[in-house]
Amino acid sequence: MSARRSSEVGRAGPILLLDSGVGGLSVLRAITGLLPHAPIVYCADSAGFPYGVKQEAEVSARVAGLLGRLTERLRPSLVVIACNTASTIALQYVRPVLGVAVVGTVPAIKPAALGTKTGVIGVLGTEATVRQPYVDELSRRFAGDCMVLRHGSAALVRAAEAKLRGEAVDAGLYRAALDGLLSQPGGERLDMVVLACTHFPLVQDELAAAAPRPLSFIDGADGIARRCRQLLQDARWPAARPRGRAIFTGEMEEVAPLRRALQDFGLMDVEHFGQEEGR
Ligand code: DGL
Repeated sequence: MSARRSSEVGRAGPILLLDSGVGGLSVLRAITGLLPHAPIVYCADSAGFPYGVKQEAEVSARVAGLLGRLTERLRPSLVVIACNTASTIALQYVRPVLGVAVVGTVPAIKPAALGTKTGVIGVLGTEATVRQPYVDELSRRFAGDCMVLRHGSAALVRAAEAKLRGEAVDAGLYRAALDGLLSQPGGERLDMVVLACTHFPLVQDELAAAAPRPLSFIDGADGIARRCRQLLQDARWPAARPRGRAIFTGEMEEVAPLRRALQDFGLMDVEHFGQEEGR
């Protein structure tokens, strides 16, 4: 691709975010805070939700296939995998082949290790994320002098989805997710919780309220937004704030209760993207 063509693409293309569901909205919030005029397409792979209980091969195949088709169709200036599960599993495969810059979401273990006073940090993610070698590697490189506890909670992912649909969530579920960390040996000294699933910052207030003692919560959204701004520093955005676009791969009837939450995040237009589209 010539330099001229590359800059044209950078100017015109939206930022494409991908998650299995609404979790990536926590990343979108940080990105629109720094780049309010960037055109946004947010894709929820709701037909594949949840990723966190799937095997690695299935997550990789889904994410690579979907991002390939969406990138063909939308010509984004940047792809953000707004999902820890997809990033820790598939980023290494997707990045070299997609033909556009890809920013991933990885557990904020490094800042947690810098911030802990007790030397014990907890990684709260999906079951798939917390078992990834990527998390071993981050812990080894950046938290070698800390005790890193891990817990995977699919229930917390469902709670965040339910909250954004306006459904009631049993408050005991938040305490149970925290207890998955706090009840482990060393958990009594834990002071920082890494929200290693993009769904979890959406229920951070509920987690804080359920905590038996004050805990600090940390996630990677602000760092991702800064990285996006850096990569897109030459982009020319429209003067008026563009309408955000949301794409769902699953049944559209299931999206109706989310419409208000999507609008709160600037996603005014909602459409379906099927298995066969973009092929
Ligand atoms: N939001 C996703 C993450 O960051 C995953 C949720 C799921 O589909 O299990 O890991």
